[in-house]
Amino acid sequence: MSQLLARKSVSELLVSSEAGLGLKRALGKWQLTALGVGAIIGAGIFASTGTAIVGDQVRLGAGPAIVLSFLMTAVACGFAALCYAEFAAMVPISGSAYTYAYASLGEMVAWIIGWDLIIEYAVGNIAVAISWAGHFRELMSHFGVYIPAWLSIDYRTAHQAAAAMAQGATDPGTQYLASAVSDAPHLFGLPVIINVPAVAIVVALTALLVYGIRESAVSNSIMVLLKVGILLFFIAVGAFLIRPQHYTAHGGFAPNGFAGISAAAAIIFFSYIGFDAVSTAAEEAKDPRRDMPFGIVMSLVICTGIFVLVALVMTGMAPWRQLGTAEPMITALALAEGNERLVNLSRFIVALGAVFAMTTVLLVFQLGQPRIFFSMARDGLLPPWAAKVHPRFRTPHVTTIITGVFVAVFAAFANIDEVVELTNIGTLFAFMLVAAGVIILRRTDPGRERPFRTPWVPWVPLLSIASCLFLMIQLPRITWIRFGLWLALGLLLYFSYGFWHSRMRMARAPGGQR
Ligand code: ALA
Repeated sequence: MSQLLARKSVSELLVSSEAGLGLKRALGKWQLTALGVGAIIGAGIFASTGTAIVGDQVRLGAGPAIVLSFLMTAVACGFAALCYAEFAAMVPISGSAYTYAYASLGEMVAWIIGWDLIIEYAVGNIAVAISWAGHFRELMSHFGVYIPAWLSIDYRTAHQAAAAMAQGATDPGTQYLASAVSDAPHLFGLPVIINVPAVAIVVALTALLVYGIRESAVSNSIMVLLKVGILLFFIAVGAFLIRPQHYTAHGGFAPNGFAGISAAAAIIFFSYIGFDAVSTAAEEAKDPRRDMPFGIVMSLVICTGIFVLVALVMTGMAPWRQLGTAEPMITALALAEGNERLVNLSRFIVALGAVFAMTTVLLVFQLGQPRIFFSMARDGLLPPWAAKVHPRFRTPHVTTIITGVFVAVFAAFANIDEVVELTNIGTLFAFMLVAAGVIILRRTDPGRERPFRTPWVPWVPLLSIASCLFLMIQLPRITWIRFGLWLALGLLLYFSYGFWHSRMRMARAPGGQR
């Protein structure tokens, strides 16, 4: 037991990160902020907001009070960001929450967090790639290019649409989705339905990331400027289309009260995931002690402002009950009473913004995941080949390619709803353990220099834990079961490999040195 709980001291962590490394220190504080905004604004705001506003068979919607859900989640994320900021400045190592847990909660919990972060980064990216494909399809249709449904959606969506048609649905959207079943070629009697754009974008970004961190950061910054610009455009155009009666008609401002607001908060939590991903670039930051806290907190502040305004505008433009689509912003524009040409142009621009937005999310998470694997391999918990850095490009190419293949394969076939909630629970769990880590390390290593200190410890970390737990409780039972199974599989792997190869324990064993 004491071996499982053995902690790696911060000094040991810093020394092992200096040895055998080679990542390029290329990022300044605004590039780090851009990485954060790049990771945050994506499928969540552009797609999940629809379900959060309206609700579905298993959960209540928030209605126009979605703006309160955004604020509620922002507060929870704010506490978490302050905890991440303390660690990221004190232990600026690319493993993020995994590394922080190693220093504060011991090796076994560190492994669990590392394993759990696969849910946040890689599984989250499966959802984003699927949503990217949907918006890409919409964008192409503005150019007269129509991608067949069987080449751009998943099996479950296609069959749900076919079932809806069988029950009498006639709208063009459902017809299109159901066409995947009738148009698809068959292999061994089964229709071949595969999301090709989702695979293509993941493959393209993986290649970019193997090529170089600087090139990736520059492309990211350009796309972040574009997506923020497009959201500001949506807010500006939408502000003129607001009809105040939409806030109060159709069941009132908060039609499902606090229950609806908090159920929506647990869904739109997905929109905020990403500020923590800034910490995985710690070893590529020019001055991580100063710039890590800045990048983490600033990206969260900027995105909160944008989300609150988008939510206010969206629900002011149209009756909230009609916004429950996969593209709620486009739906709101289509329903708003305004100049028809302007609305059409806006729809095109929003679709373009969504494609850029999700490209950057994919980029940052595809960048973060390999760096976590990289840190785990360096500690001996994963095989040594996972810690290889490319001799010329100086990027962790092996883990970058493995992440790309994993995400691409699942994005080809998975259903988006199944992966979003799993991502949320996994990320909330990581946030909780990081907050616990802040409290513990303040006791076990009080003298260590902390370039950034989380205020009001232990209260802020405790509030972070409580608010994450609150949001986790809102998630359905099936998500908890999937999450439990994933963690159990992780423990099995730990006891089959990591436990026997951990560098820290090898070095500490009597007479042992690696
Ligand atoms: N926050 C990211 C998104 O919404 C994961 O796409």
